[in-house]
Amino acid sequence: MEELYRTVAQLLVSDKQCVALTGAGISAESGIPTFRSKGGLWEKYDPVVYASIEVFNQDPSKYWTIRGDFIRNYDNYEPNAAHYALAELEKMGIVRHVITQNIDGLHKKAGSRKVAELHGSLRETYCLSCGKEYLAPNVPDGTPPACDCGGVLKPNTVLFGEQLPRDALETAYQESSTCKTMLVIGTSAVVQPAASLPSLAKQKGAAVIEVNPQKSFPAADYYLEEKAGIVMSMILNEVKKIQDT
Ligand code: APR
Repeated sequence: MEELYRTVAQLLVSDKQCVALTGAGISAESGIPTFRSKGGLWEKYDPVVYASIEVFNQDPSKYWTIRGDFIRNYDNYEPNAAHYALAELEKMGIVRHVITQNIDGLHKKAGSRKVAELHGSLRETYCLSCGKEYLAPNVPDGTPPACDCGGVLKPNTVLFGEQLPRDALETAYQESSTCKTMLVIGTSAVVQPAASLPSLAKQKGAAVIEVNPQKSFPAADYYLEEKAGIVMSMILNEVKKIQDT
């Protein structure tokens, strides 16, 4: 595996045009449950019932119920070595953008500046009636938070059946079609449009490197079958060795 880390590090250093696509797996080592791997959120809750905009509009308490089970008190979660490695690689001019499906905000908390949050962020909510913005409740208990005007507060996360934020989506397509390498970290690559970004990058000539204990992108040029925290720390070390020579 050492050889593979060195090869990947050389790729990243050679063109300094790397984009990272991340999913729930990169936050697993921070204690946040994934959705589809063992013990994931969708094993307990049906996403159509608990995380679709159609059901939210009929009964917002269903969404706020799972939020309490998914990320209790979001300020208690810290980035892990994988988030910090990506932030440091950005500072070194190696990683130019992170495209994340995660709503936990841990990339920004780790110091990454260029982050496209394809599925929004769980910290913000806004009123469906008057548009007023609020911080999301820290420990939701299933009771839908209400606006001063009495309106229902919607989380600033993309629910199934909703459009993705246009700016983030445009950035994701732009970055994926012009990067030279794409790190695909901790995603099952089943939810569109994020799932098609690695194929887009590959089609445009980028080398795709998957980091995941379970392979989910068979067309990857390199596959690192290990947890993100370990892999990204090793790659960062190898990049530093190359940069110091
Ligand atoms: N390091 C790397 N990968 C990991 C780790 C780890 N420590 N632990 C788990 N994984 C991998 C799993 O093998 C799996 O392939 O992370 C992936 C998590 O897949 P999902 O739970 O499906 O999460 P994700 O791909 O981000 O889901 C995409 O689906 O429900 C929607 O909006 C939700 O953003 C989410 C989207």
